[in-house]
Amino acid sequence: MSAVSRLIGPSRGEAAQFGVYVHVPWCRNLCPYCDFPVAVAGERDIPHHDYLAAIMAELDERAADYAGRRLVSIYFGGGTPSLWRGDCLARVIEAITGAFEARPGQLEITIEANPTDCTEKNLPMWRVLGIDRLSIGVQSMDADKLVALGRDHRMGDGAASVRAALTAGFPRVSADVIFGVPGARGRDESSVAGVADLGVGHMSVYELTIEERTAFGRAARQGRLVAVDQDILADMYVAAHRTLTERGYEHYEVSSYARPGQRSVHNQLYWRGVEYLGLGNGAASFRRFHRGGERITNHRSVRRYMRTKGADRIASRDVLDARDVSNDALWLGMRTVDGVPKDAFDELPRVRDWLLGERLATLCNDRICPTLKGFLYCDRIASRVLGAWR
Ligand SMILES: C[S@@+](CC[C@H](N)C(=O)[O-])C[C@H]1O[C@@H](n2cnc3c(N)ncnc32)[C@H](O)[C@@H]1O
Repeated sequence: MSAVSRLIGPSRGEAAQFGVYVHVPWCRNLCPYCDFPVAVAGERDIPHHDYLAAIMAELDERAADYAGRRLVSIYFGGGTPSLWRGDCLARVIEAITGAFEARPGQLEITIEANPTDCTEKNLPMWRVLGIDRLSIGVQSMDADKLVALGRDHRMGDGAASVRAALTAGFPRVSADVIFGVPGARGRDESSVAGVADLGVGHMSVYELTIEERTAFGRAARQGRLVAVDQDILADMYVAAHRTLTERGYEHYEVSSYARPGQRSVHNQLYWRGVEYLGLGNGAASFRRFHRGGERITNHRSVRRYMRTKGADRIASRDVLDARDVSNDALWLGMRTVDGVPKDAFDELPRVRDWLLGERLATLCNDRICPTLKGFLYCDRIASRVLGAWR
């Protein structure tokens, strides 16, 4: 059975699946476009063990909420988790796998890594810890785009890190690429093709979002940075789709492409309404109960996270009713190639007719699935679904 088919709901009598996200906030420098909850620190200044203690305490407090579920994924995201010491990663993996049941060979463990951390020392160490999926922040293969993005790696580092990861025997290697970088010359197809041709099994191709509270956001407000035109961005998106699908990748989510058997188990949890426990500053968790659910988000400040316990860590707690949960399943499902069952739109016939009429979606085997145009307009689809009840 593939990793993907295992994810589709529990059969009768089988434990529900879930995943654990562990946020590791430190970065060597702050990328000017990044709005994740991060903190800048040199490797020696990171409070490795204090943060470990805080993560272990949160796991201890919250594990009971997910009792009886089957663990299918652990995901170290950032920030830059590849900066965290191996003994800390090992302790967390040991604690999580000790707290929950997982079937042999059915647990994906991912770490996000910056290219310069994919060293001869780290790669085999991560493999020994049981990490089987590496998500490398290549971002671009072009020198000027890496500079424009304020990255701490240079041209050639991205390709070298992917080659090293594949040589080290990682069965699942993914690379992130950003397109639509303002002010950079040339289009981004060459980066997309260049990374794919290195042999990665998975690629995430993100349109640059200019987030308000970032250096790019400030520059845009002051007129020092001009966003790439929407039509050009749409052309870039379609060109990336063509480049990757021609090479045998499946475009399975708005920004995600996979070779057969290489879809991200973890990301699919989010899109399919499966539960997850998020540990660390800024981390989000989702739990289902009765017909609704609950979404919890921790405070973004790492200092506060390390100083507090229990409810004091929590910035927001949203109680979701059955309609919230089904709306989320609808708009998130419409971000994936698998779409949603046709009858999921029974209460929203006008939205369904609009999707089909505008060719944003097609009917395939009793499911409504987005077209490429639907992927391009995914935000509009989400607001139509969420707005339909108002
Ligand atoms: C948690 S982040 C970064 C992890 C890693 N430290 C790095 O920078 O390579 C995960 C991915 O989100 C993407 N990303 C972050 N901010 C973005 C933005 N404003 N627009 C588009 N993509 C973004 C990047 O491709 C990045 O690799």
